[in-house]
Amino acid sequence: MKEKLEKLTALREAAKLGGGLDKLKAQAKKGKLSARERIELLVDEGSFEETDMFVKQRSKDLGLDKIDILGDGVITGFAKVNGKPIALFSQDFTVLGGSLSETNAQKICKVMEAAMKLGIPIIGLNDSGGARIQEGVGSLGGYADIFLLNTLASGVVPQISVILGPCAGGAVYSPAITDFVFMVKNLSYMFVTGPNVVKTVTHEEITFEELGGADTHASKSGVAHFAFDNEVETLQNVRRMIDYIPMNYKDRPEDITYSEKNHDLIKIDDLIPDSSNKPYDMKEIINLLIDSDSFMEVHKDYAQNIIVGFARIGGMSVGIVANQPAHLAGVLDINSSVKGARFVRFCDAFNIPLLVFVDVPGFLPGTDQEWNGIIKHGAKLLYAFCEATVPKVTVITRKAYGGAYDVMNSKHIRGDFNFAWPTAEIAVMGPKGAVEIIFKKEIAAAADPEAELNNKVNEYVEKFANPFVAAERGYLDGIILPHETRDKLIYVFNLLKTKVDTNPKKKHGNIPL
Ligand code: HXC
Repeated sequence: MKEKLEKLTALREAAKLGGGLDKLKAQAKKGKLSARERIELLVDEGSFEETDMFVKQRSKDLGLDKIDILGDGVITGFAKVNGKPIALFSQDFTVLGGSLSETNAQKICKVMEAAMKLGIPIIGLNDSGGARIQEGVGSLGGYADIFLLNTLASGVVPQISVILGPCAGGAVYSPAITDFVFMVKNLSYMFVTGPNVVKTVTHEEITFEELGGADTHASKSGVAHFAFDNEVETLQNVRRMIDYIPMNYKDRPEDITYSEKNHDLIKIDDLIPDSSNKPYDMKEIINLLIDSDSFMEVHKDYAQNIIVGFARIGGMSVGIVANQPAHLAGVLDINSSVKGARFVRFCDAFNIPLLVFVDVPGFLPGTDQEWNGIIKHGAKLLYAFCEATVPKVTVITRKAYGGAYDVMNSKHIRGDFNFAWPTAEIAVMGPKGAVEIIFKKEIAAAADPEAELNNKVNEYVEKFANPFVAAERGYLDGIILPHETRDKLIYVFNLLKTKVDTNPKKKHGNIPL
């Protein structure tokens, strides 16, 4: 008996060494944590329950017959993060470069399937050289099995990918389907084809970091939602995210008790500049209105003309979508529309109420935008807001012009509470552009065309550049003072907790892709 127990202990110890001490040392030398150290940092102390520790790979070709490593290069199991259950996998680069085999794909699929049945988030820690080359189609099939489960799990449980090393080739498509991608600067990279292939095909010389590093994906491609300086900070932020989101699509985000701190709300009455063309920082407004230090911005460095992220207001978790007048005047373009739409759909899928701040001059004009499809990409944001049935609250701080007024969670597309500040301007287009079209002949015929243009602009501003016309029609539920906004938001989000709304029965919608 004793012998058998000792054997089990010995096997467990062996499994924990992954590819062996030398490989673990090599991993550390590269400045990377081991797959197990990462799990320790991610989950609550002592909460990790490992599964499939004794799984071994079964291939015999190209030297694999000599590979006899317990666990086969991926650690899987269940744990708690801030007291909440999660499923996880952590690829171990010390075993054949963390490459994906038929058997380790089965381990990953097993925890993913369990996560869906249990209704708990799945977190994947990726550090892999891709498909195990010696295995051929077995490993490719393993990837496909994972892609299928990523897709089936989408909207059922939150899926978070953390890239902590290489993630190349077709392997990138698993993180790409998941809800959030975290990367580490100068440590992780993602690309479909690496620098060598790029050089052969396009003759471009480019480094791994420039082609597919964290900064590249967080600011240029938008593939990464977060880029942090090191692994510890990255994993801490994954933990932070778990606090804002529910466990599954039937669950709701957990409220926390929030004792009111000193909110300097009078300051907020002076934040909108007198000139409607002058920029201001929407983040300042957001941070004044929400619970202190509660903003977790998503896609901070990508398409900065729109701001998205999680926050708490009165202890309730909300998803914020806001135009940013301090960047490109808050205009909606292709990237900001796609960024906003994906975030709205995540929040709607997981019952996170939406709080929308509007200061938008419209959609960005130009051949670049038109030829690249601003019509279909802008439609994504519109579609996402239209289909969302979660509580939806809008505050128009200044401009709400043209189609962008409709798109930004207007009353017409099922906004539950739509407020405007007295500084709001709701119109088909900006005053100058508008009068140049409708009074073109009068202005041209006037003795002093410039004076006539100014007169007409003033007339237009008087009539339309305010929130009262919309309020008369009931398109706004209230015109409120900026310093009243926080209390109103807490009131309505509490009220909306019992909201029920549905969409017509269908197989699935056809969002313009
Ligand atoms: C088998 C692999 C491997 C792989 C790495 N290794 N990648 N073994 N299959 N895909 C092994 C190496 O042979 C080596 O073994 C160990 O892992 C560490 O790799 P190194 O090259 O020494 O590490 P490093 O210098 O850090 O380079 C990492 C790397 C490089 C850039 C990831 O290993 C690499 O280019 N690997 C191949 C990447 C690739 O082309 N993968 C296939 C992509 S296509 P030893 O025994 O020497 O320590 C793909 C298709 C998916 O994934 C399709 C899905 C639809």
